[in-house]
Amino acid sequence: MSRVKAAVFASGSGSNFQAIMEQEDLACEVVLLVCDQPQASVIDKAAAFGVPTFVFESQHFSTKADYEQEVIKRLKTAQVDWVFLAGYMRIVGPTLLQSFSQKIINIHPSLLPAFPGKDAIGQAYRAKVHTTGVTVHYIDEGIDTGPIIAQKEVRIQADDKQDNLQKRIQKAEHLLYPQIINQVIREQATSSKS
Ligand code: GRF
Repeated sequence: MSRVKAAVFASGSGSNFQAIMEQEDLACEVVLLVCDQPQASVIDKAAAFGVPTFVFESQHFSTKADYEQEVIKRLKTAQVDWVFLAGYMRIVGPTLLQSFSQKIINIHPSLLPAFPGKDAIGQAYRAKVHTTGVTVHYIDEGIDTGPIIAQKEVRIQADDKQDNLQKRIQKAEHLLYPQIINQVIREQATSSKS
């Protein structure tokens, strides 16, 4: 049976992209990487996995709706069904949100609703909380506010340095995200059959 098709959106190093690609029983085929940063190392990772990439620069478009229309065109051409945000540093606008309603998922490095937005790991570290973690959630029009699908806790040790904490959070992300991607795809396939 052919797998559903997915796109990953990323702007940075792509360690989550890599974890998704390395998941042995991945329930989808990643057919496109969408990236808004021409220098991002995730682009090389996609090439290594043979995944086509669409790179755009927002300043070459007049509005967010304009570049999202272009992104949607690429997604439709590639017959993408699911979108997984993995370090995509742009807020998804209504154009894309409406076109892929309930089909866009994000991973965020905190236990939402705590520490939304940028530098979530630094925010938690500076707040001296005992436990932080990672969250996989559907996206909506807010910043890291959409319905939560799954979370994984990461303890902050008394003598932790922020970069150790970051490594443990990344490890948790790399375990959780591919698993949850499989879960949501399988759940939706089952519910659309019944
Ligand atoms: C991850 O921490 C993810 O939770 C956040 O951005 C970071 C991306 O890291 N949204 P990478 O590019 O996957 O290494």
